[in-house]
Amino acid sequence: MEYDVKDLSLAEQGGNRVEWATQGMAVLTAIKDRFAHKKPLKGVRIAACLHVTTETAVLMQTLKAGGAQVHLCASNPLSTQDDVAAYLVSNENIPVFSIKGEDRDTYYRHIHQALDVKPQITMDDGADLVSTIHAERRELLDHIVAGTEETTTGVIRLRSMAAEGVLAYPIIAVNDANTKHLFDNRYGTGQSTLDGIIRATNRLMAGSTFVVSGYGWCGRGVAMRASGMGAKVIVTEVEPLRALEAVMDGYQVMPMLQAAKVGDFFCTVTGDIKVLRQEHFAVMKDGAIICNSGHFNVEIDLEALAEMTEERRQIRENVEEYRLSAGKRINVLGEGRLINLAAAEGHPPSVMDMSFANQALAAKYVTENSGTLEKRVYGVPEEIDREIASLKLAAMGIEIDELLPEQKEYLSSWDMGT
Ligand code: ADE
Repeated sequence: MEYDVKDLSLAEQGGNRVEWATQGMAVLTAIKDRFAHKKPLKGVRIAACLHVTTETAVLMQTLKAGGAQVHLCASNPLSTQDDVAAYLVSNENIPVFSIKGEDRDTYYRHIHQALDVKPQITMDDGADLVSTIHAERRELLDHIVAGTEETTTGVIRLRSMAAEGVLAYPIIAVNDANTKHLFDNRYGTGQSTLDGIIRATNRLMAGSTFVVSGYGWCGRGVAMRASGMGAKVIVTEVEPLRALEAVMDGYQVMPMLQAAKVGDFFCTVTGDIKVLRQEHFAVMKDGAIICNSGHFNVEIDLEALAEMTEERRQIRENVEEYRLSAGKRINVLGEGRLINLAAAEGHPPSVMDMSFANQALAAKYVTENSGTLEKRVYGVPEEIDREIASLKLAAMGIEIDELLPEQKEYLSSWDMGT
């Protein structure tokens, strides 16, 4: 079996950590048991490009239990947990191609190696498989039934491809499921981003000024958790509606040029380029800490920062100090890559439980509906979303009410009880 991981001797540690994550993933475990029994993915070849974490390992086990043949590579050069990669190779016989800290060439070589499975389904987090197939591996298109996409950034790219008429196969936007973005993007990114910043810096949040750029679901989560730890939160936005929501959620809202002068911490979560740039670095305070929790490492203009810099050094793991002229220091966390995965372990298992339940059921759905889907981006079917919410509540031991028949009738009538 071909694979490329850092060190197979890490497998035992990886296995223990996967077991720990599994304890928080009751929904995916229930689906795994169902898959083991019914084999809905029997013989289906899947290429997956995801963050190689303990939670992803449980998804890989689930797909395998369903009968799939899976190849896995990383969706970010810094997010791989090497012990998990070793465990998947050694104990699950799943070919994994990913090493934490891999360079750009290795990252893309690994994507190609994952694609060598000749996938019928692609499973992406950031659309790198889809992009590579469309640009360089078009011969693979003959086999592909559909793909799934995990993240907002990936879905935006895929929708652009569909709008331009270049998307060559159907995609299920897992990110758009309510049981994904309302929980993973908000509570998952909220907690894991703060976790990453704190692990990297060991600085106190209470009393600090924390600038969050972007008030989508991820930004809302980061702002909420920073505020919960006692930081004064400033939000920067470009959308009036979101800005207004941030104001009414109790945050200060202002342009980045103003926020840059007062922030102690800066976290970008916009999905766009150059959110922090030269004009902002120029006015930041000495010692400002800047990081990104958006998918790609494009939100902080590190090239511009490097040009303004006289000296650079790694002052702590995951903290690079840029010393500008006049002695001002700006600290960049995790090379501007997703700080929650670079310096912490990504989202906790209990939110990934729902995200990856969507992935597993989306893979089953496209397998059962192959040939009926068009070359466009679909949401996750509503029944799947609702089923996952019900399974999650059941796993948490939470019961809810049911409508009386007359309440149902009232809701579907237009002349009753007015
Ligand atoms: N994205 C964010 N957190 C993650 C995790 N724990 N595993 C896989 N993908 C993630």
